[in-house]
Amino acid sequence: MQNPSARFAPPSEKGYAKHSRGEILAEIMTATMIERMRESCQMAAECLVAVGSIIRPGITTNEIDRFVHNFIVDRSAYPAPLNYKGFPKSVCTSVNEVVCHGIPEDRELKDGDIVNVDVTTLYPAKGGYYGDTSVTFYVGKPSEEAIHLVEVTRECLEVGISVVKHGARVGDIGAAIQEVAEKAGCSVVRDYVGHGVGRVFHTDPQIPHYGRAGTGKRLEAGMVFTIEPMINLGHYATELLSDGWTAVTADRSLSAQFEHTILMTRDGAEVLTARPELVPNCEDVPWAKLHPRSCPAAFRS
Ligand code: MF3
Ligand code: CO
Ligand code: CO
Repeated sequence: MQNPSARFAPPSEKGYAKHSRGEILAEIMTATMIERMRESCQMAAECLVAVGSIIRPGITTNEIDRFVHNFIVDRSAYPAPLNYKGFPKSVCTSVNEVVCHGIPEDRELKDGDIVNVDVTTLYPAKGGYYGDTSVTFYVGKPSEEAIHLVEVTRECLEVGISVVKHGARVGDIGAAIQEVAEKAGCSVVRDYVGHGVGRVFHTDPQIPHYGRAGTGKRLEAGMVFTIEPMINLGHYATELLSDGWTAVTADRSLSAQFEHTILMTRDGAEVLTARPELVPNCEDVPWAKLHPRSCPAAFRS
């Protein structure tokens, strides 16, 4: 597909990296910064809800790419993946054994596939903050295996969010996620981790989705980072395809992922990318095991 966005210059990472201490660190955000961050994150969340309504067997991942691109550009924001370190499209679409960073293409999705759509907004009009969130969609009718994997992965994100508290450590998040995944017979990808996010797409701290409780950096109120577990049905090892982006499971087993951008508050976590309504073909299916933290819309009375 022709790059629909040649007229948009890629954002310069440098321009957004000027933190008060002059280096790229985990930033403690002020109330004003958080308000701007929330606007970018909400746009990304609304985009995922909209994507859900177009997911069906026969759609191509390029059509999803064009939809996400237009959704974000129509709101005067920038789809952050486009031209990021040379990534050629506006969104990542990771199908079945693809772990992450799948490149949209003209192949049609088929009944029974699962596809993660990872949306990242950059909102220059609101201070230039990034919002990063993804879900795994069911395309048509999934297998029992696919349901197991996707619902376990959804729970992994929820449990990761639940341990985020002032004074907790980064390792607490990974330990909680790993326990849920491995008890369910699945594995946690090591090669890709969550990350600090703000006026820089990827910054400190790194958030592994495996590890030991009581280890790693302490979490402080005002920090903003993603939790984005990638969970495999088979072994956790990944392989990078020759396009330099697409990460697949080494054993070609199914892989799923969910991602939220999280703000640390004094009492716990605020999910900045929480969605205003259920995501079609993901959260509205009868077998979805929804949780209050990552899916507040389902629990609102
Ligand atoms: N959104 C991804 C993440 O969660 C990063 C995508 S980078 C890209 O960190 F270049 F592949 F788009
Ligand atoms: Co991310
Ligand atoms: Co992402």
